[in-house]
Amino acid sequence: MRISDPRIVAKLAEMHVDLRPGTALAELTSLGIGGTTDLLRIKKHESLPDLLSLLDANNVPHKFLGGGSNLLVGDGELPWVVLQLVRPEPDVVLDGNLAHVDGAADLGRMITFCAKNDLGGMEGLIGVPGTVGGALRMNAGAYGMQIGSYVREVKLYRAASRKIEVLQGDQISFEYRHTSFAPDDMMLSVILELPSKPFKVILEGIRICNEKRRSSQPLGQKSAGCIFKNPPGASAGRMIDDLGLKGLSVGDARVSDRHANFFVNAGHASAKDMLTLIADVRERIQKTYGVSLENEVVVWNA
Ligand code: EPU
Repeated sequence: MRISDPRIVAKLAEMHVDLRPGTALAELTSLGIGGTTDLLRIKKHESLPDLLSLLDANNVPHKFLGGGSNLLVGDGELPWVVLQLVRPEPDVVLDGNLAHVDGAADLGRMITFCAKNDLGGMEGLIGVPGTVGGALRMNAGAYGMQIGSYVREVKLYRAASRKIEVLQGDQISFEYRHTSFAPDDMMLSVILELPSKPFKVILEGIRICNEKRRSSQPLGQKSAGCIFKNPPGASAGRMIDDLGLKGLSVGDARVSDRHANFFVNAGHASAKDMLTLIADVRERIQKTYGVSLENEVVVWNA
């Protein structure tokens, strides 16, 4: 979708929004898949209510992009524009055991920065790509921990009230790869309360998790992490592997040889290829185990 009306373009500039016409989302997603649309980069959180009013008044649908690392975007010209926060400098400010973090901060860099200041707890998340805002919205987790456990306060744009609001940690429910945020809420910043730990101890935890991840996941390849959520008490990866589906392909979309719940883009896969592969694997699992796997990856397909 293209914003061509000069009045809207002028208003965007007034709101400190940087308009990047015709951006290829394949370049902004870890899967390397996705069509083209206008990208609106937001420099000031405070401009969001006016920006969203402007888009609504002009019938411009939108989606909110974090780090693009858990996302499968459709092909071709996309029927909505994409909003993304510009990362401020600094993006993490420490105050005792509290870390004030911008939604656009890189998750891994934030964890490392806190570790260097003797604040730990999130060692398991070190290899998870993406932004802090994205991790928060999905309640990213790995190796027995989840980001939600450390949330003291979240500042967000609430689509329902059309306002920027602050929620306390106990007003939000964090479950397995799911939160009580509405799909169109936008995470702006978070205060995390982290336990004190010596840097050396945190570093050792990080080293162990990194090793586990390197030995079981296809880290060098284009993927969106796990495609399906684990069904209660089971591992989707093991179920897919047990059916002998590693290497199953549709075009360049392929079930990883290393971890069967990672589907990789081995070349120039389209969203259609990836969606066909996902549907095929889901159907085979349903037939064999009678289990309907739920997507873990977020799909923006028109
Ligand atoms: N397994 C296989 N074959 C495979 C993959 C896994 O037999 O191809 C077996 C493993 O040997 C292990 C079991 O299945 O015994 C579980 O595997 P793993 O430890 O890799 O954990 P997982 O349940 O597949 C989850 C998360 C990952 C997270 C890891 C580590 C989900 C859907 N996945 O994977 O998160 O990194 O645990 O904590 O919850 C993600 O969210 O994108 C993601 C990758």
